[in-house]
Amino acid sequence: MERIKIAVFVSGGGTNLQAIIDAVNNGALDVDINLVLSDRMDAYALERAQNAGISTVYINSKDFKEREDFIDRFLRLMEEYDVNFIVLAGYMKKVPPELVRKFWGRMVNIHPALIPAFCGKGYYGMKVHQAVIDYGVKITGVTVHLVDEQYDHGAIVAQMAVEVRDTDTPETLAERVLEYEHKIYPLALQLFAEGRVEIKGRKTYIKDK
Ligand code: GAR
Repeated sequence: MERIKIAVFVSGGGTNLQAIIDAVNNGALDVDINLVLSDRMDAYALERAQNAGISTVYINSKDFKEREDFIDRFLRLMEEYDVNFIVLAGYMKKVPPELVRKFWGRMVNIHPALIPAFCGKGYYGMKVHQAVIDYGVKITGVTVHLVDEQYDHGAIVAQMAVEVRDTDTPETLAERVLEYEHKIYPLALQLFAEGRVEIKGRKTYIKDK
């Protein structure tokens, strides 16, 4: 089996990226992090990557006149850095469909709720937690899923439930959910590293060790 060489796509603080870096460094996650890519130059996640000695790149469609050039550059970056698996970790841009198709089955996202609840277009970051609290559900969670061409839609790989407390604000809930994200993402990626994720239609099945 080919070793997994990932690019992590980020837009913000990068605490999930940090959890992945830490898991690699302490031997819990068997992948190479070849690149951290951001659509925002000021993403703190880029600093985390640099501190860990990982290559970083900024790319944003708004800097390209022609969409084709943007897509070309994006695809070339993946080749240049020898990336064979993409990890979205708080990446707030839609991934171009050309890339999604190329990396189908080899691109995952983490969503801060239990898909299919509180997901889809417009549900990202703090907006998810606000919606969870407004609705009054007692349980939310985290979902790791494959990326397809629709928002938060690809086959689910792993989920964990997280309690919603009556006293929660979006901020306190986000903090609790993030703790679970940091646990589940390295675990889910390790399943791919061990070749244990089987994709059949709309579902994934986890093979025994
Ligand atoms: C995380 O909660 C992640 O699940 C969410 O953004 C946050 C990024 O935090 N992603 C989405 O909402 C994607 N739809 P981080 O930058 O500290 O990892």
